[in-house]
Amino acid sequence: MNDIHSGDDLGKIIIIANEKGGAGKSTVATHLIIACLKAGKKVCAFDLDNRQQTTTRFIENRRVFNDTHGLSLIFPEFRSIELSKEEEIKARQEEDRERTTNALKTAAQESELVFVDCPGADTAQARAAHGSADIIITPVNDSFIDFDLLAKIDPVTDEISAPNFYSQMVWEAKKNKAMKERAHLEWYVIRNRLSQIDARNKRRVGEAIEKLSKRIGFTILPGLSERVIFRELFPKGLTIMDLEDVGEAGGMSLSNVAARQEIRNLVQFLNL
Ligand SMILES: Nc1ncnc2c1ncn2[C@@H]1O[C@H](COP(=O)(O)OP(=O)(O)O)[C@@H](O)[C@H]1O
Ligand SMILES: [Mg+2]
Repeated sequence: MNDIHSGDDLGKIIIIANEKGGAGKSTVATHLIIACLKAGKKVCAFDLDNRQQTTTRFIENRRVFNDTHGLSLIFPEFRSIELSKEEEIKARQEEDRERTTNALKTAAQESELVFVDCPGADTAQARAAHGSADIIITPVNDSFIDFDLLAKIDPVTDEISAPNFYSQMVWEAKKNKAMKERAHLEWYVIRNRLSQIDARNKRRVGEAIEKLSKRIGFTILPGLSERVIFRELFPKGLTIMDLEDVGEAGGMSLSNVAARQEIRNLVQFLNL
């Protein structure tokens, strides 16, 4: 069908986003980037969180670790988008929006997968990334407190009363994509830091998120457990997917194997 946007040869733009810090966006982003590189994909990465710059620092740490240990680790093509210096707020936002949209589009013409680590705030760059995305991945900490990001939930009855600001923003992005490109924007939520001990709470949260997914229209991804290893490797610029390449494979504990499997499940589910 020729009238449908000819995007078949474009790479997928995958943004990792929500409206909150500390939910695991950068952890998910860096792990997916390395997992997909290791699967042989051509990957481009952006860090739009200008305050935290976690993915930027991850790449820097990785360079240093790679060079000091004489390794040949794989790296994504990493690009940044310069912030507008316009003084007037509207003009500044407009320029940020345009630069972001263009940068992501160019990256999608050159790479198979474009990953964007978003800030936990509503910025012009983040808005533009939502407007350009093919896939949105939203991490939430596995607790009811984190759900208020998605919807208002009655604390006593667990009933969902109204979708929140962020859900509405994703809806807008979905609507726009359908209208402008006649394309489908996929929205996934990933439960992060799943407790390995509190089975009862985990089940309760699981039931609530299931209800929420039907109500506000997202797909639930296989989750990630709370694991020290997910944060331990960060200062070296490594992920759980790298261990066998840095001579630490001998130290692969059962827990590390399980962690790696969680990332693989994620990649497989997303069909990346
Ligand atoms: N599954 C996990 N297990 C253990 N620690 C985690 C996990 N996910 C994230 N963290 C830690 O939580 C903190 C916040 O995660 P981060 O990915 O930076 O969140 P965000 O990018 O959304 O602000 C970091 O210190 C990170 O290492
Ligand atoms: Mg982050």
